[in-house]
Amino acid sequence: MLGVTMSPMRYGHFDNAAREYVITDPQTPTKWINYIGTLAFGGFVDHTGGALLCKSDPTYNRITKYIQQMPSSDFKGTSLYLRLHEDPGDGSSYRVYSPFYVPTLDVPDRFECRVGLGYSRIISESYGIRTEVTIFVPVGDTREVRDIHITNLRETAVEVDAVPVVEYSHPDALMQFTNADWVPQTMQSRGRQDGDYIVMIQYPFMHRDVKINYLTSNLPASSFETDRKRFLGANEYGTWQRPLALLDDELTSRDAERADNISALLHHLGPIEPGETKRLITQFGQEASLDAAAEGIGRYRDPAATDTALAEMAEFWVDYLDTLQVQTPDPAFDSIVNVHNPHQCFITRQWSRYLSYYQLGLGSRGIGMRDSSQDVLAVIPAMPDEARELLATLIRFQKINGSALHQFNPLTMEGSEGDSVEMEDRPNYYSDDHLWSILGITSYIKETGDYAFLDRDVPFYEKDRDGKPIETGTVLEHMRRGVAFTRGDVGMHGLPLLGFADWNDTVNLPTGAESLFTAHLYGRALQELIALHEHLGHESEAVQMREAYEEMRACVEESAWDGDWYVRYFDEVGVPVGSNENTYGQISLNAQTWAVLSGFASPERARRAMDSMHERLNTPFGLKVSTPGFDGYDPHYGGVTTFPPGAKENGGIFLHTNPWAMIAATLLGDGDRAYEYYAQINPAAKNDIAEVYEIEPYVYAQNILSDEHPQSGLGRNSWLSGTASWCYQAATQWILGIRPAYDGLQVAPCIPSGWDGFTASRRYRGATYAVTVSRGEGSGLTVDGRPIDGDVVPSAPAGSTVDVQVTLPAAG
Ligand code: GLC
Repeated sequence: MLGVTMSPMRYGHFDNAAREYVITDPQTPTKWINYIGTLAFGGFVDHTGGALLCKSDPTYNRITKYIQQMPSSDFKGTSLYLRLHEDPGDGSSYRVYSPFYVPTLDVPDRFECRVGLGYSRIISESYGIRTEVTIFVPVGDTREVRDIHITNLRETAVEVDAVPVVEYSHPDALMQFTNADWVPQTMQSRGRQDGDYIVMIQYPFMHRDVKINYLTSNLPASSFETDRKRFLGANEYGTWQRPLALLDDELTSRDAERADNISALLHHLGPIEPGETKRLITQFGQEASLDAAAEGIGRYRDPAATDTALAEMAEFWVDYLDTLQVQTPDPAFDSIVNVHNPHQCFITRQWSRYLSYYQLGLGSRGIGMRDSSQDVLAVIPAMPDEARELLATLIRFQKINGSALHQFNPLTMEGSEGDSVEMEDRPNYYSDDHLWSILGITSYIKETGDYAFLDRDVPFYEKDRDGKPIETGTVLEHMRRGVAFTRGDVGMHGLPLLGFADWNDTVNLPTGAESLFTAHLYGRALQELIALHEHLGHESEAVQMREAYEEMRACVEESAWDGDWYVRYFDEVGVPVGSNENTYGQISLNAQTWAVLSGFASPERARRAMDSMHERLNTPFGLKVSTPGFDGYDPHYGGVTTFPPGAKENGGIFLHTNPWAMIAATLLGDGDRAYEYYAQINPAAKNDIAEVYEIEPYVYAQNILSDEHPQSGLGRNSWLSGTASWCYQAATQWILGIRPAYDGLQVAPCIPSGWDGFTASRRYRGATYAVTVSRGEGSGLTVDGRPIDGDVVPSAPAGSTVDVQVTLPAAG
């Protein structure tokens, strides 16, 4: 494959029965992470127990200090030390190590990090001690719980101490890095006796009376530490790998009136007998005050609360995943579609592009209009209420003229124009943002039949002097304004102006450039609105929108065909970009796939464009976003040329675009191609080439370096990518073909010729549809044994189970 010699190299495996991925080698090429909690309280936890946690906002209310750029061996945010009362061989009284491997780097005899749904469970065995730590945030709660079980595997009793440690960030995460006097002068950390227990509290001085962080546990602790300098010792020439404080019998139990704040709690668990297990449960959170936290802390001191919370979390995920479960001939397809992909979709819906191992939550980025409108598409079936409310929130950032702001901060609810304000000679709006929500809203209506949502009044963004919205409009009106904006915002070929950028953030051409991507997205949005208006019986609106659609289709077909494929932009003087005439970026993926998705391409051109795409852009690791990559920085194009050829938007495999090729292939009836594109980027299929791919094989990444780059096949920016939502849609709605329609559930599979069929169970409007697809004589669809015309199964009463049999013609 691409000249790279690959022997299977894996760091773990899928445990499908447990719905977990199990990391068995702690030395993964990068940290592999999982998410716990929600934006209300949560963040990510890496496979060596480090965690980046925040409450409601990682930029202005960050809690733990997790510095991604430091080496993997470093302490990051939090860890657990165990201390055995025995001489490790150097004459000291204690053997100190971390069951998480980091930061002491004692190599465990056995290591497992079970990446689960809402939790990570780290199981390790070292020095005859087994430790199992389940890290999670209970559903609906705002605390991190670490449920620690320590078992003695030896034949003799062993005395064990356990020391959980947290290091704090200033809540203003950027300030943490920009002022090394102000930050430690303002941070305070304390220990307080609370009956038999100790509660650690921490805050910046200005938050003392309104917001405190706390760490406590269910067992009495004998001492604590608050200051990193004292914990590491020797004026911080002690290290996280070997904190000198743990060589003393007790910690100092002194408060920190300033300094790099930590919370460390020393628990003597006493002698643990052979085979015996001791359970320590820590809880970590943020509340208005210790009084406000008291009730919850008390509750979670009873281990039964943790058991209940774990059981509730398991139920939550069973319910979420039960929306759709499938059995196909491809186990890698099933394990991603049934578990890990919907999990990732839940996470992208929650975190947008806010906080990940790559997106550090430091800038003003917040929640993106474009990204969240796409993320939500995948979770509508499983969580329609949350999806609706997110959509309603997103369109509050639409302006009166129909265009939209690029992003907003969920804590302050301030909108912003994103990077578009940073380049003076470029327009300061994005041409696509306002169009994406139309796909989400129409999909929500098809899923739920909740037409009342269309009438809900939602403000437009502009406010008067008192901060009151100047104008409101129904959800339907927001959608109409969106398409009206684009209809009026066109350039010399009648195509939509690019604005600062379209979906591709990195091509920022001067004012006057036109975007084919936005033209196609607009076409797709119009198709959805035409269908909705027709369904609602709004004939005159439907007619108007059909006119708008035809008008744009004509412009595209007249100007954008390059001979063998479609171009992607016209620059400010009308020169085509993404054309045979160019030296770099001659052909772009989106320009072909979206010409099919918008329905603008004639059948002949659609086929030709998709074939050109396949020839020029397909690689064994996925489809490249364009080719050839720009070889040198060119200010005319902007950001795309900051990457070397083969990376990210400059001819890399920008995975978000790949599912559009799968969907386009199904629209052309080509199940084999659709599946080929699906299977070649399925993260589960990367498990055996982890040495090359480097990142988590259980979630999609944003990008993989392409064959134009020396490190071809290397993945980056896992988790928070539109790839998750679109791959889920491509797999479930287009390859399996199970998608909501206004009148019922459409079942129109477009599966590869190598599949005999598949079965699926889909929840839709409260009923369950048991779908069996098989090959046979002729083709057709029966519902509860009765043949029906077409491929839409009428919606059945809530609570019922509907048997749907689909016969596809025999392959060949
Ligand atoms: C990133 C952005 C997304 C954009 C894409 C392509 O993934 O989050 O909004 O569409 O890059 O530039």
